[in-house]
Amino acid sequence: MPPPNERLPLPFSGPYLLAPMQGITEPAFRNLVLARNPPDQLGGAFTEFVRITNHPASPRELRRHLGAARFAAPVGIQFMGSDASLMAESARRAAEAGAPLVDLNFGCPAPGALATCAGAALLKSPRSIEQMLATCRAALPDTPLSAKIRAGFDDDELLCDLALAAETGGADLLTVHCRTRAESYRPTRAWDRIARTVAATSLPVCGNGGVERHCDLAAMRAETGCRYVMVGHGALADPWIFSGHRASPGEAARFLLDYAAALTGQAGGGQTKAAARVKQLLGHWTAGDLLGDERREWLCEKQPEALLARLENCLGGT
Ligand SMILES: Cc1cc2nc3c(=O)[nH]c(=O)nc-3n(C[C@H](O)[C@H](O)[C@H](O)COP(=O)(O)O)c2cc1C
Repeated sequence: MPPPNERLPLPFSGPYLLAPMQGITEPAFRNLVLARNPPDQLGGAFTEFVRITNHPASPRELRRHLGAARFAAPVGIQFMGSDASLMAESARRAAEAGAPLVDLNFGCPAPGALATCAGAALLKSPRSIEQMLATCRAALPDTPLSAKIRAGFDDDELLCDLALAAETGGADLLTVHCRTRAESYRPTRAWDRIARTVAATSLPVCGNGGVERHCDLAAMRAETGCRYVMVGHGALADPWIFSGHRASPGEAARFLLDYAAALTGQAGGGQTKAAARVKQLLGHWTAGDLLGDERREWLCEKQPEALLARLENCLGGT
């Protein structure tokens, strides 16, 4: 184990990171984004959260979340739970399975997480966050550990205490989502909270929240001093946001068809489920101006075959 205060080097290949998103950043979506952005821009990604309740994550579960494909940019695995020893054993197994980084979720606002004292519930108690990190740190001698927090539970008064808890608990990186739990996913650019976090800790900070366009990535780093920038919704609208490439309608359609094919091919998949997931993504989509003036028609398309045929028709679009 590294001596106290000595941090492990982070594995990222570039400054921008794809956010963990439950129900979205499983391998099918993640791999397509990683393949379309250069690793010196998109420096890493995360699994969706792996929920730890009564037992540690099984090797099979870990393999499913980590996926088989490997890219120059690493994929960290995220855990969410309230039992420090189960979280630590899951972290140890993840490292054994080859995870290049383990991230702990202290931001999920879902009622199910809050009811079991997991996710954002822990934002009320910096001491609990510190203890959970310290327990996981002890189980991870060689694998970097990160914490992902929101700016607070009801307000941002504990933000500096939370940053210090991450540092004292032995994290190697702190990601701060600039919304509080109470602010849910409301539009915001409360980046001053990220700047305050940078000022409060010697840990490398990853800023998160409200990045909508490629130019916001550099702007957040310049305004706040954070080392990394993490993108959630912005990457659902435009998976090329990290590189700034302006996708053509054809490239956008290709992405969505590849996504449908990857989902159809996975266990428990099938064309109907895949088309439903593509439609869910289209609800956020702006890349290539694919939907144009027909957003409503696209989103109301009920037949999976018709939705995929619409995409096929756009393949030639430049
Ligand atoms: C559909 C969805 C699922 C999410 N799932 C997770 C998750 O599994 N773990 C996590 O830490 N954050 C999760 N988040 C939060 C994002 O990682 C990110 O912190 C948040 O969306 C703010 O970034 P943005 O403004 O760029 O979207 C999720 C967000 C969305 C929209």
